[in-house]
Amino acid sequence: MSADALAALIVDHGSCVVLTGAGMSTESGIPDFRSATGLWAEVDPFEVASIDAFRRDPERVWRWYGGRIQALLDAEPNEGHLALAALERGGHVRAVVTQNIDTLHTRAGSEEVVEVHGSIRRAVCPMCGLPETLDAVLEQLEAGPVPHCRSCGAVLKPDVVMFGELLPAAAFARAEHLARDAGLLLVVGSSLQIWPVAGLPEETLAGGGDVAVLNAEETPFDPRAALVVRGPAGATLSDIAALLVEGAT
Ligand code: APR
Repeated sequence: MSADALAALIVDHGSCVVLTGAGMSTESGIPDFRSATGLWAEVDPFEVASIDAFRRDPERVWRWYGGRIQALLDAEPNEGHLALAALERGGHVRAVVTQNIDTLHTRAGSEEVVEVHGSIRRAVCPMCGLPETLDAVLEQLEAGPVPHCRSCGAVLKPDVVMFGELLPAAAFARAEHLARDAGLLLVVGSSLQIWPVAGLPEETLAGGGDVAVLNAEETPFDPRAALVVRGPAGATLSDIAALLVEGAT
């Protein structure tokens, strides 16, 4: 069984670092981006999720993000998120590096979470750098199309990495260190098509480690993985936790 093979690989390596993508949260009702039912099948990401679009038409970007924030807030961690938190408590997962902005890993109880694409928790002022809480942003969105900085009045930006932006330097440096130092990097629910995150498995190989992939569809890295499991993230991770962590069922 696939969970058995992944569990054995984790035990062989002592522990693993997990790299997650949107496929981790589809079982929480949050669509991913590139599968047939993904968000980018309905809307052009460069019209709603790029820094150029934000500068050109912030109202359009906030209309799209406003709907997305509500969907993310309504979502709950699924059995996969809970399993990774249990595996961390059991010493089998060292950290989770996530591309997801939905905060579900933290809400599930994972402690070492590196958010390399930011999070919906905050917005930030692109002019003066002042952060703003999500509650204050949602309050402003009730009254108008875009939130403004309470200090300089500029239109706030969601604190997530948009196409055309650099990743948060400290977070990505930590992710690179974790990947290079990992004996095993377990990639879960990512198409591994977006750089620089798609380069993290390479860091693990360069550091002498192995890579395993748990994903519903093929990824470009599959041919170089020590193990590829084609299956659902939630059930598979839950089975691994049941095998490795006392009372995790
Ligand atoms: N179990 C396992 N795999 C799944 C599941 C599931 N329940 N649901 C979806 N998947 C797989 C899909 O088949 C797909 O290959 O997860 C993968 C998700 O890939 P993407 O939609 O490309 O998401 P991701 O890799 O996280 O995208 C990276 O792109 O648009 C940007 O910033 C955005 O962080 C995102 C980045």
